[in-house]
Amino acid sequence: MINITVIGRDGQKHSLETPTDMGLNLMELCKAYGLPVKGTCGGMALCSTCHTYVLSDHELPEMSADEEDMLDQAFFVEDNSRLGCQIRMTEETDGLEVRLAPEDEEV
Ligand code: FES
Repeated sequence: MINITVIGRDGQKHSLETPTDMGLNLMELCKAYGLPVKGTCGGMALCSTCHTYVLSDHELPEMSADEEDMLDQAFFVEDNSRLGCQIRMTEETDGLEVRLAPEDEEV
């Protein structure tokens, strides 16, 4: 099991525990804990509703072209922006700390 810290849009810290053998990604984990992450596209890097800021200095896998394209179109993008659905829960992500990005305007 690993631990992930997610800071909600209200500034509240949530400590999420997850196994690493289920192939879960950060968006799915947040949803499982009832955090307000829509994940509208189901993790296809097509919606940016799972946009998060990575606060810890973990080495995460490089962004795919799809993720980069999607973040290009997203609002409130920062240098540490990533799509939560593209971050897989593995031993390497133990201790990861992220903050949920503000929601894009409703479309
Ligand atoms: Fe749609 Fe991550 S859930 S981009």
